[in-house]
Amino acid sequence: MNFVKRNYGWIIVTILAILPLIIVFGMINIDLSDGLSITFDKGPGSESTLDMLYHVTGEFAIRWMTLVLSCTPFFIIFGVTNLYVRQAMGISTAIWSFLHFIIFLLAEGFIETFTQVNYVVGLIAILILIPLFFTSNRKSMKRLRTGWKKLQTFSYAAIFLSLLHVAILDKAWLFYTIIVGLGFIIRIPAIKHKLIAFRTQSAKP
Ligand code: HEM
Repeated sequence: MNFVKRNYGWIIVTILAILPLIIVFGMINIDLSDGLSITFDKGPGSESTLDMLYHVTGEFAIRWMTLVLSCTPFFIIFGVTNLYVRQAMGISTAIWSFLHFIIFLLAEGFIETFTQVNYVVGLIAILILIPLFFTSNRKSMKRLRTGWKKLQTFSYAAIFLSLLHVAILDKAWLFYTIIVGLGFIIRIPAIKHKLIAFRTQSAKP
C-alpha cells in the first residue's frame, strides 16, 4: 500500500496511457495462422478504421507531448514536480508516436513517408524521440549528466515539428500551440523569476 501511496503519480499516467491502447489493438486484426499478418479496414471516407487509428494515435501522441512539456511551466507556477511522472509522460509520448508511425508504415510503407512534407516533418520528430525514449531513465541521467539535459532540449524541436505536421494537415493544432506557447513564455528567465518570487512570497505566513 505504501508503494502505491508513494508512486501514485506515475501509476496514474501509466494507466491513462495504456487503457486506450486496448481500444487501438481491438481495431487491428492480428492473424497468426499464416505467419504474422496485421490488417485493418482501409475503406473509403473519413470513417475508415485506418483513419480512426491515425486520429487516435496522433491525438494521444500530441497530448502526451504537450503535457510533458508543460511539466516545467507547471513547476514554475505551482512549485510541484515529480521526475517519475515526467518520465512516464515522456515514455507515453514516445510509445503513442511510434505506434502512430508504425500504423502508417503497415498501411502505406516507408517510401510513402517521403511523398509529403508533413510526413517528413513527422519523421524527423520521430527520429528525435528515439534517443529521448531510450534515455528516459535514471541510469542514463546519471551516465550522461549535463549531456542528458542538452539531449532533453531536443524535445522542443520535436514538439515544434509535431505541431507543424498537424498544422500542415489542417487538423486541431491551435489549442496545443497555445498551451506549448504559454509554457515557453513562462520559461523566459525574467517571467520565470517573477513567478517564482510571487509563489514563494505568497507561501510565507
Ligand atoms: C513519420 C512520421 C509520421 C507520419 C508518417 C504521420 C502520418 C500521419 C497521417 C497519415 C495522418 C492522417 C492524416 C489525415 O487524416 O489526413 C496523421 C495525422 C496526425 N498526426 Fe501524424 N504522422 C507522423 C508523425 C506524427 C507525430 C510525431 C505526431 C505527434 C507527436 C503526429 C500527430 C498527428 C496528429 C495529432 C494527427 C491528426 C489526427 C486527427 O485529428 O485526425 N504525427 N499523421
